[in-house]
Amino acid sequence: PVDLNDPRMIIVLTQIFLDSFESVFPNSTVPKTLVSKCANKKHGDFQCSGAMPAFASLKKSGGLPDGINSPQQVAQAVVAHLGADHAVLSDLSTQGPGFICFRIATSYLQHQVQNLVGKSLPKPNIKPQQCVVDFSSPNIAKEMHVGHLRSTIIGESVCRVLEFVGHKVERVNHVGDWGTQFGMLIQYLQEEYPDFSENMPNITDLTEFYKCAKQRFDEDPEFKKTSQLNVGKLQSGNEAFLKMWKILCDISRKEFQKVYNRLDVTTHEFGESFYNDKIPAVIEEFQKHGMISIEEGGAKCVFVKGAKIPLMLQKSDKGYGYDSTDMAALKYRLQAIGAQRIIVITDFSQGDHFVMCNQAAHDIGWVNAGQRLQHIGFGTVQGEDGKRFKTRSGETVRLVDLLDEAVSRMENSLLQRIESGKANITKEEVHEVAEAIGYGAVKYFDLRRNPTSNYKFSYDGMLDTKGDTAVYLLYARVRFESIMAKAKAEHGVDVEELIKNGEKIVLGHPSERNLALQLHAFGDTIGTTLDDLFPYHICEYVYNLSIAGSEFVTNCRVLGSEEMKSRLLLCHVTTMAMRQCFDLLGIRHVKRI
Ligand code: ARG
Repeated sequence: PVDLNDPRMIIVLTQIFLDSFESVFPNSTVPKTLVSKCANKKHGDFQCSGAMPAFASLKKSGGLPDGINSPQQVAQAVVAHLGADHAVLSDLSTQGPGFICFRIATSYLQHQVQNLVGKSLPKPNIKPQQCVVDFSSPNIAKEMHVGHLRSTIIGESVCRVLEFVGHKVERVNHVGDWGTQFGMLIQYLQEEYPDFSENMPNITDLTEFYKCAKQRFDEDPEFKKTSQLNVGKLQSGNEAFLKMWKILCDISRKEFQKVYNRLDVTTHEFGESFYNDKIPAVIEEFQKHGMISIEEGGAKCVFVKGAKIPLMLQKSDKGYGYDSTDMAALKYRLQAIGAQRIIVITDFSQGDHFVMCNQAAHDIGWVNAGQRLQHIGFGTVQGEDGKRFKTRSGETVRLVDLLDEAVSRMENSLLQRIESGKANITKEEVHEVAEAIGYGAVKYFDLRRNPTSNYKFSYDGMLDTKGDTAVYLLYARVRFESIMAKAKAEHGVDVEELIKNGEKIVLGHPSERNLALQLHAFGDTIGTTLDDLFPYHICEYVYNLSIAGSEFVTNCRVLGSEEMKSRLLLCHVTTMAMRQCFDLLGIRHVKRI
């Protein structure tokens, strides 16, 4: 049976065709993926490719019905079965070797967009799951850089998409707070701030602090030796050392939080240190399963099939490292949190590491049939020269500086707009709007492509008012908002009233229909995104939506037209949908620019 209320059009259409093949050719076999977008828009919105495999299967089994001698005839029979006045399909035709091309019936589309009026975009009906998204995850005392920006931006959007459809998401910030760097940081803290326990040191720039500590470490063998001893003391739980460690973490944490606040990002910190006391049991479990091999120096390793290097659960000096923590984290997420889906988002170079960790978790039997482990490995951000993104003096670009720059450029362009009389905002509002657009631009520039690809960072590119940018999209949305505002001010037609009165949308003009089709495509977009968790599907969607919307207002007069009410409702639904997409991407929307 077809659930006509499923917002994922592909699923509805697939079911319709599967049912039809089943009725007309009960002995044929057709693959589950038989509906796709129509290659040639002239022939239809979608196409079904089921007739070819159905014909082949019937021929093979010798079960071809009388009068059916080609895939085309199979297609024709299905078209005849579906009929000319189908509730969902229209303009059915057979093309080429047996494709069935068709459009979505306008009455059906009309009904679907009408359902959006005064509401939000529909969510597919799926079983809620407990998910873990491990993202952002910067390292204490090291500056957050543009790599962490990618993880943060992509991760936030992934969380929002999962939450949107009703999944429960644990937003895990796997902060690097337990590395060997703490030995030297603690040593340096004691040297520089001997009375730190009474007077909280006022270190605002922990990166600078890190650099100085590193310098002492490299220069002074005595300092180096004590630093190394400190690591052991800290990791075995020495109170005084834990206190110093915490002071340092708190300083970093405050700086990270500032970035999260600016970007509207929420995370829950489960740093590496959280797993320290859980590691011994994990090692023991691997030992019990006979999966540990002792390497030279006494390191405890797990060899995973197909991997070139082992996972090292304990180093020869008895210490724990990245691998140990990640295995303990996996067990915790799978068993204590009960996650059905775990997604880790880091740069692609860590891909092999996570393949190994996930395989080891499977091998030891931690992963049930319904549990899914995923790693999203993103590419590098490059400068305009194609090399790694750096400042002019060759240092890594600090995230805060990058965000400041985007906002300040946006401020300038808004001030110019005010000066030339084009703006609808006051000088006082500039900063807030510039932040919304500036951060939105940085995010969208990243999210709009497949995360696995590298990209060149470019302020000019991301702040372009034309083309596939957040700036263009935010402006486009404001255009619809202002049409609705004008309708109220100049024509006395208030959209809110239209909604309350149950006013109807009528799709007359092809541009209206096209916009409705795009609006209705949201369900499929979410469906696709839920699988690979690449937010670029939503970017593509909202960009196409804004183009369809612009074509609509260009080709169809709204204000003062006979169809004004219906068209205002279309504007309303379009702004609502765009805003929903911005929300999913973590982009603030603006009402006026
Ligand atoms: N702190 C690491 C880094 O900066 C990322 C951690 C990712 N998560 C994990 N479970 N290993 O590269």
